[in-house]
Amino acid sequence: MPWICSDSPALVLAPMEGVIDAPMRTLLTERGGFSFCVSEFLRVHHQIYPRRVFEAHVPELKQEGKTPSGVPVQVQLLGGNEEQMALNAFKAYEAGARAIDLNFGCPSPVVNRHDGGACLLKYPNRIQAIVSAVRKAVPHPIPVSAKLRLGWECMDDIFMNAERAMQGGASWITIHARTKAQGYTPPAHWEYIGQVRKNLGIPIIANGEIWTLDDFKRCQEITQCQHFMVGRGALANPDLAQQIAMEIGILPQKTEKCFTLIHSPEYWEPILHRFAQITEKSSFSSDYTTCRIKQWLKLAKLKNPLDYWFNALKLCKNSKELFLALRKISENGSKSAFLDFRS
Ligand SMILES: Cc1cc2nc3c(=O)[nH]c(=O)nc-3n(C[C@H](O)[C@H](O)[C@H](O)COP(=O)(O)O)c2cc1C
Repeated sequence: MPWICSDSPALVLAPMEGVIDAPMRTLLTERGGFSFCVSEFLRVHHQIYPRRVFEAHVPELKQEGKTPSGVPVQVQLLGGNEEQMALNAFKAYEAGARAIDLNFGCPSPVVNRHDGGACLLKYPNRIQAIVSAVRKAVPHPIPVSAKLRLGWECMDDIFMNAERAMQGGASWITIHARTKAQGYTPPAHWEYIGQVRKNLGIPIIANGEIWTLDDFKRCQEITQCQHFMVGRGALANPDLAQQIAMEIGILPQKTEKCFTLIHSPEYWEPILHRFAQITEKSSFSSDYTTCRIKQWLKLAKLKNPLDYWFNALKLCKNSKELFLALRKISENGSKSAFLDFRS
């Protein structure tokens, strides 16, 4: 299965721990546009995980490593011990993983204190050693990629780190265009991605701060990349992937223009219902669904004016209440959204 080809574009759904899990991947990939997804990271310490751990973490492994709509899922590992990473990569392969991604970008203090994620950006030799050990551990048709931030504090560190990841045998490199110190504060420094792409001979996936089609076009222009990854933008606008995929030729252009009011409850209601249907089918609790929907809308609210109706949903205690409130808001229009719709 070709994951990234140097001569055709790809759009990748970003890994987002605690946010883009299997139900969310199911929903976002069935809307179309994504070439493949990357799983949330699985932290590797001193243990070698059995198959059931990989299957619980990435349930798609039980369906040939694909979401129900047939989009492949790459398994991401995070850790600083090259031997353990290699042993677990092989276990992931045995559990059905058909591509492995290595996380060198997580900024979480807990993760970094335990020698994982972005703290490895301070040690290019270790990045090379980990990529190389994992590369040797899994059969050659299985791609091994690295996901990097620009550096720990210094953006120029990306040049050495990306080169070392390539020398370790990375099939491609995803670059989130910010340092760990920059966290998630805009802007993303896409020009560094463009420089790395020019310097190295392997595919580069550009990532960070693509929220709209216009952002995408600017990122494409600056980086001249063919491959892109979106995370939060795909949650804030569940149709963004389709729009980008049409722009880069992964999907055919639609002839009719479709104007959706991305901030309206009418837009979100069927999408959220579909999400609840997916979680119910996978036996997730109503509490899980309610929490995830609130988390999702809170993120979407960063870029869309959802306030007028999101506030009315915040107090709902379960998904039944939430969908009832949403129905009433849709029926009554924006003016009534400040009323209490819970009963
Ligand atoms: C809540 C959250 C969880 C994340 N979890 C992961 C993860 O598990 N692995 C990873 O490589 N990156 C993770 N990231 C980083 C994203 O994959 C992505 O690089 C970052 O959000 C920038 O892209 P965006 O602007 O398109 O969201 C996470 C980001 C957020 C906000």
